[in-house]
Amino acid sequence: MRKIFTLLFSIAGCAMFAQQTPVYLNSNAPVEDRVEDALQRLTLEEKIAMIHAQSKFSSPGVPRLGIPENWMSDGPHGIRAEVLWDEWYGANWTNDSCIAFPALTALAATWNPSLAELYGKSIGEEARYRNKNVLLGPGVNIYRTPLNGRNFEYMGEDPFLASIMVVPYIRGVQSNNVAACVKHFALNNQEKYRDNINVIVSERALHEIYLPAFKAAVQQGKAWAIMGSYNCYKQQHCSHNQYLLNDILKQKWNFDGVVISDWGATHDTKEAINNGLDMEFGTWIDDVTWEKTNEYDEYFLARPYLRLIKNGETNEDLLNDKVRRVLRLIFRTNMASNKIYGSFGSPEHAAAGRKIAEEGIVLLKNNNNLLPIDIEKTKKILVVGENAVKSMVIGGGSSSLKAKYEISPLKGITLRAGNKAEVKFVRGYESPATKEQDVKDAKEPQQKEIDVEALRNEAIAAAQDADIVLFIGGLNKNDGQDCEGNDRTNLNLPYEQDALITNLAKVNPNTVVIIISGNAVAMPWVNQINTIVEAWYNGTEAGNALASVLFGDVNPSGKLPFTFPVQLQDNGAHAAGDYPGDGKNETYNEDIFVGYRWLDKENIRPLFAFGHGLSYTTFQYGDATADKTKLTADEQLTVSVPVKNIGTREGAEVVQLYINDKKSSLPRPIKELKGFQKIYLKAGEEQIVTFTIDRNALNYYDDSKGEWIVETGEFEVWIGSSSADIKTKVGFELQ
Ligand code: BGC
Repeated sequence: MRKIFTLLFSIAGCAMFAQQTPVYLNSNAPVEDRVEDALQRLTLEEKIAMIHAQSKFSSPGVPRLGIPENWMSDGPHGIRAEVLWDEWYGANWTNDSCIAFPALTALAATWNPSLAELYGKSIGEEARYRNKNVLLGPGVNIYRTPLNGRNFEYMGEDPFLASIMVVPYIRGVQSNNVAACVKHFALNNQEKYRDNINVIVSERALHEIYLPAFKAAVQQGKAWAIMGSYNCYKQQHCSHNQYLLNDILKQKWNFDGVVISDWGATHDTKEAINNGLDMEFGTWIDDVTWEKTNEYDEYFLARPYLRLIKNGETNEDLLNDKVRRVLRLIFRTNMASNKIYGSFGSPEHAAAGRKIAEEGIVLLKNNNNLLPIDIEKTKKILVVGENAVKSMVIGGGSSSLKAKYEISPLKGITLRAGNKAEVKFVRGYESPATKEQDVKDAKEPQQKEIDVEALRNEAIAAAQDADIVLFIGGLNKNDGQDCEGNDRTNLNLPYEQDALITNLAKVNPNTVVIIISGNAVAMPWVNQINTIVEAWYNGTEAGNALASVLFGDVNPSGKLPFTFPVQLQDNGAHAAGDYPGDGKNETYNEDIFVGYRWLDKENIRPLFAFGHGLSYTTFQYGDATADKTKLTADEQLTVSVPVKNIGTREGAEVVQLYINDKKSSLPRPIKELKGFQKIYLKAGEEQIVTFTIDRNALNYYDDSKGEWIVETGEFEVWIGSSSADIKTKVGFELQ
């Protein structure tokens, strides 16, 4: 009897409680119900508060209702160290040292979507542990010019590759109840003049080249946030841009997440209200200086917006749409059901970073099989070059990280060589000292005289009796190199590295050049050097990953996500475009001919082609066959190609599929990447690689019609190991 009473009592209690629990607090209720329930409880002032920052990286929740704040973090390579509430400077916490993951160029170079998922999952776990519900990344702006200071944060020059890689990254991040904020939407392809430059580009290039990765991020990746960029398009800042945000993103693509302004990219209240911006961050309040503090109430979407509503100059409809999106973000992240707790700085994350780095490193040239290093025969290893010891997780702008640890290339090589070989280091060249990052009142560093000759001579002398010389140079994250805020001024290696490399090659033919960069560099010495490696910015485990590849523990399988041109003039933005513009406008005259599409059209040989990357083994391609010779636009085509590992060790190859349209009404690129697969083969093993393509691989954007079209006629599928190394072709007719 007592039991029955207790049962009845608790059922009644539950019912009472259930009745009293507001829908927005019920994490099992559908998100849209929670959104509507919360919305109608908010005051006008609370709504306004939710759509702009309250500190450098956070926006308020609704304390009265228990709705938590939003906390954002850069992004995209690791979770940024805590900064002060209202300053850009580090807060000097001691519990915020993250795992630094490889730069996104390195991830793209793996051509391995499952590693993109691992990347996203791992960085999402780090964000979640640090109580960040929005990760400011990934970046998918297309690599248009090798001078762009932020290319290292992006996924290369090809819209198809970037689209395939960005989707699993987002899924991985968001599986942790952390929103991925895809950036910088859109046309932010250079740092020079980034705050105001107005990009003039054809609708066709916009749709074929610059938007697809964002579209994939939204439609397939289901990204919960997107960041509007600094630059202008159609004479409107992209963070409040009618065409990009309202017409395309929200209407055409049905984006239901939040549009977040880049930090300081909001410039006008009415445009911000009307043109699609949902959350305002980082505004430099008088639009001139970023030093003013605690001015959040004066943000464009703060009091000025409230005043307009109170004066009756605008109603609450658009505000409600913005708040709905912010609430949706909160219910998807901080107030989600079955919330995840994350993990931080773990050995698993470091291992994930290492794996990505190992698969991303690209062996560009290996003529005399100098690599892998035979540790039994190599007794004296000389490492030359500042990048062997310089931290590469620090610097570069907003992606700078405070890493738990960072294995430098020199350390990685020394550890791997163990007591089997002597490893010596000479600097060889030096970059100027830089100011300490994120430190308030950091002093200008004392510049010492750099004796270029002496450094070079010391390296040349040391190189003479080394069994192998590992030159580790390239760019770095200093201003004017691979760094936000400015572009590079030319394609060459800085700090007179070219002369050093040429001299090293003269005294020691066993010189390997390892470039650490996120951008292509000129290589005037390419014919004197037999072995060249592109090793990217690889984060915490950079040195170990590099050593694994150099010593052959890992067989390299990375492929370039962008072209290395011989000279700047071989790049469309420089040959035809008017990069960097006149400070007001910048016209993308090269149109759709970006990256390899330009070189193909002009018949220019690249230094190293898009998609290029060697292995320590050899892959042999057989003839491609198709299951049809004729098909209609609604049918699929299956193409098969046998690929065999004919070397003596296992390895991985990225088999690439390009489409060539024989004849079209509008000019088209000679070939475009429309498929790829990374396959792993043991020595002697063969695999039939199968691709299925449909109309999406054949269509193009017709500006005059404003739509994607497919034209009948002859096409060819080109299968290759890079964009410049096509191994086999098969034709078909589209009817
Ligand atoms: C960058 C963004 C970054 C933001 C916050 C801006 O300067 O362009 O990519 O997320 O700062 O640090």
